[in-house]
Amino acid sequence: MAPSISQDLLDVSRQAVPRYTSYPTAPHFSADITAADYGTWLRQTGKAGKPVSLYLHIPFCRTICTYCGCTTKAALRDDPVRAYAAVVHDEIALLHQHLGPVEVSHVHWGGGTPNILPPEVFADLVEDLKTRFRFRPGMEHAIELDPRHVTHEGARHLASLGITRASLGVQTLDAAVQKAIARIQPLERIEASFDALRSAGINRINADLMYGLPLQDLGSIRETVGHVARLRPGRLAVFGYAHVPWMKSHQKLIKDEDLPDAKARYAQARLARDLLVEAGYAEVGIDHFAEPEDDLSLASKAGTLRRNFQGYTTDEAEALIGIGASSISRTPFGYAQNAPDNHGWRRRIEAGELPIVRGRRLEPDDIRRGQVIEDLLCRFETGETAATPEIQDRLAPLARKGWVELTGNRVVIREHHHEIARVVASAFDAYLGAGGRHSAAV
Ligand SMILES: C[S@@+](CC[C@H](N)C(=O)[O-])C[C@H]1O[C@@H](n2cnc3c(N)ncnc32)[C@H](O)[C@@H]1O
Ligand code: SF4
Repeated sequence: MAPSISQDLLDVSRQAVPRYTSYPTAPHFSADITAADYGTWLRQTGKAGKPVSLYLHIPFCRTICTYCGCTTKAALRDDPVRAYAAVVHDEIALLHQHLGPVEVSHVHWGGGTPNILPPEVFADLVEDLKTRFRFRPGMEHAIELDPRHVTHEGARHLASLGITRASLGVQTLDAAVQKAIARIQPLERIEASFDALRSAGINRINADLMYGLPLQDLGSIRETVGHVARLRPGRLAVFGYAHVPWMKSHQKLIKDEDLPDAKARYAQARLARDLLVEAGYAEVGIDHFAEPEDDLSLASKAGTLRRNFQGYTTDEAEALIGIGASSISRTPFGYAQNAPDNHGWRRRIEAGELPIVRGRRLEPDDIRRGQVIEDLLCRFETGETAATPEIQDRLAPLARKGWVELTGNRVVIREHHHEIARVVASAFDAYLGAGGRHSAAV
């Protein structure tokens, strides 16, 4: 049974640390990395002949949910979305010039809300990608969907274009919480989305849930998890609400007094986990769950789970190429980020340039620390030689509490304390404290 939540554990869980979907993390990217550097990395990646993954960012939604931490903006009409898609075609052509006709092993459409793309616009983009690159037969082709806009016709269209996996933003089914986050989607809407996807043959479904939202309590977590577990998505993510109003000004609409405190957040995260495990899901990493026979659970068990900008994945490609404003690419040589604003991104592409504004060349020390951090977040343990005496000193208070085990230079996060993996990982972060404000660890 999970131990009770002590004040010490709460103090640790309140620490502001990065989410570690990359290392070094994005606040430590710099303008030293230019389009020329990225162009060289892409050409080397293309020449290596290994398959790559693609991430396409569609930064538009019909309305903005007050809690949203994603890079997106409201588009009530289709015109800006169509104009954006036209520039994505140009970016695909530019990338193709550098990469050549590489094999693609994984495609992910994220946002924002990719199902805002008009059907023929989406079809043209998929066709363009297929023409320029070689889609590996049977590859995963995933999309994030806002359930408020999922229809039977839309789902059939996605299936006809080869979409194999859909991720639905459920967040919460509590009507009062939905009102507080400006996102009304009753259970019937969620059920209809599952039904539309499954009828169209898209059976690999993820559901995103959240805790720590305004007005959320244990009762509402129990209700939401109960309903969603009955709908039986193959995978679930349970994200703690990241309240960063200094970065996302619309979050100022959320009243501080409505937010659960650290203790309530921790209890909500634990309850969601316990209920999902009771419902037969396996825990994957710090915040994902999957059916025991799902590839993600199998990778977690086999120790081959990976973590990238989209969270936990089975994707083994060394290069993840980001397309669209603000997207980040990872190559074996370093990270490169596209201009975050749609105008800046568009101007650069129209001038025939890769739209890179910053990045980070990977030094051997970054690669080593990044691997240890990925090990901690995916496997809750490091290799034999990870922790230097200085890092052991940093982790000693957590070891004294019995939350982590230090055996020689190896670190293991004890069972029932996996939630603090981001805090343990931060002990290995050479850049921590040198800029960037983060959200609470739990
Ligand atoms: C791009 S959105 C999902 C697709 C679609 N736009 C939707 O909302 O249904 C990705 C996920 O990020 C999570 N998310 C958004 N804002 C967040 C925040 N401030 N803190 C934690 N998770 C957040 C939500 O669970 C959301 O489903
Ligand atoms: S949560 Fe999804 S639908 Fe809501 S604003 Fe963010 S990206 Fe858009």
